[in-house]
Amino acid sequence: MILVTGGTGLVGSHLLYHLSLENDKIKAIHRKNSDLRAVKNVFQYFSSDYEALFQKIEWIEADITDIISLEEAFKNVTEVYHSAALVSFNAKDYEAMEQINIDGTSNIVNFCIGNKVKKLCFVSSVATIEKSLTGKMMNEGDEWNAEKVSYGYALTKFAAEMEVWRASQEGVPIVIVNPGIILGAGFWHQGSGALFSKIEKGFSFYSEGVMGFVSVNDVVKVMLLLMKSDIVNERYILVAENSSFKNIFCQIAENLGKKPPSIKVTKLMSAIGWRLEKLKSVFTNIPATLTKHAAKSIHDKRYYSSEKVQKDLNFDFEAIPYTIKSVCELYKKEINK
Ligand SMILES: NC(=O)c1ccc[n+]([C@@H]2O[C@H](COP(=O)([O-])OP(=O)(O)OC[C@H]3O[C@@H](n4cnc5c(N)ncnc54)[C@H](OP(=O)(O)O)[C@@H]3O)[C@@H](O)[C@H]2O)c1
Repeated sequence: MILVTGGTGLVGSHLLYHLSLENDKIKAIHRKNSDLRAVKNVFQYFSSDYEALFQKIEWIEADITDIISLEEAFKNVTEVYHSAALVSFNAKDYEAMEQINIDGTSNIVNFCIGNKVKKLCFVSSVATIEKSLTGKMMNEGDEWNAEKVSYGYALTKFAAEMEVWRASQEGVPIVIVNPGIILGAGFWHQGSGALFSKIEKGFSFYSEGVMGFVSVNDVVKVMLLLMKSDIVNERYILVAENSSFKNIFCQIAENLGKKPPSIKVTKLMSAIGWRLEKLKSVFTNIPATLTKHAAKSIHDKRYYSSEKVQKDLNFDFEAIPYTIKSVCELYKKEINK
C-alpha cells in the first residue's frame, strides 16, 4: 500500500492523480483544515472519470508532527512519497518550518524504519544545492555550506534530507528529488501557482535573476519512475530550463493575453521594498509579501544541471514554454467557470 504526504498541495495532488490511474487504493494524509476540494479540482482538469479516481484515495487525518496520528496512516504501508512541507521565505516561519520540515520528516523516517517500508521518495528542493565553486552549472555533487545559507527554508529542507539519508542508513531504500520552481495547475493563489493569478491581475514587475523551472508533470513522472526503478540512495535535480524571471513572467502574460511586465526591479528597489513590507507587517500583523530573502534572491543567477536524471532514467523534460501554455489554458478555464 502506498502512502502520500502533502497530497493536498501542488505536487501531492498531481502525484495522487497519477497514482490513481495505476492503483486501486492509495492512502493519503490530510490535516483537519486541508482543502480536499482543491485536490478533486486537479483531478477534474485531467479526467472526466475524476470522481471514481478520487474515490481510490483513503484519506486519513494526520499531522506529520503528531506521532499518534501517523500510527493509523502507516498501517500496511509499503511505499511512501513524502511531499508535505512548509514552504516559506518569511523568517517568522522558521520555528514552524523546523517542526514540520525537520521534525515531521524525522517522524516519517522513523515510521518508515519501524514499518520496514520498501522504498521512500522524498521531495526536497534545489534550495539544498549550493552554488558551484567551479562556476559551472550546479549539480547534485556541489558541496552545501550551511554557513553561506541564511534562509530557513533551505536550512530546514537540508536537515530534512539528512533525516532521509538516516533512513537509508537504517535499511530503508530511498530516493530524493530536488526540483527547481515547480509550475503546475490548481493552486492559483499560493506558492508558485500565484505567479499565474498575479500576472493575470496585471503584475508589472520583473527581474533579470535566473532560476531553474520544471513542470509538476515531470516532477511526478520522475518520482514514479524512481520508485519503480532499482535506483536507491540517490538524489536528482529536476530542472527543465534555467530561465530569467523576466522570460517566465513575459511568457505567462502572453499566454494569458496580458501586457508583459514592464518595470525592472533594481537591487535598490527590492532593498527598499522588503523593508517597507516588514514595517507594514509590524503594524498590520499581515505577513510581508516580499521578504528579505526573496528580495535578494530575485536578482541571483542560478543555473542547475539535470544531466544526472536525464542519463539515469533516459528522461526528457517537457519544454517550459509548453508547460506555461498548458497551465495558462487551465487557468483561463478556471476563471471562466
Ligand atoms: N512548489 C515549488 O515550487 C517547490 C519547489 C521545490 C520543492 N518543493 C517541495 O515540494 C514539496 C511540495 O510542495 P508544494 O508546492 O506541493 O507545497 P504546498 O502546495 O504548499 O503543499 C504543502 C503540503 O504539505 C502539507 N503539510 C504542511 N504541513 C503539514 C503537516 N504538519 N502535516 C501534514 N501535512 C502538512 C500541506 O497540507 P495542508 O493542506 O494541510 O496544508 C500540503 O498538502 C515540498 O516538500 C516543497 O518543499 C516545492
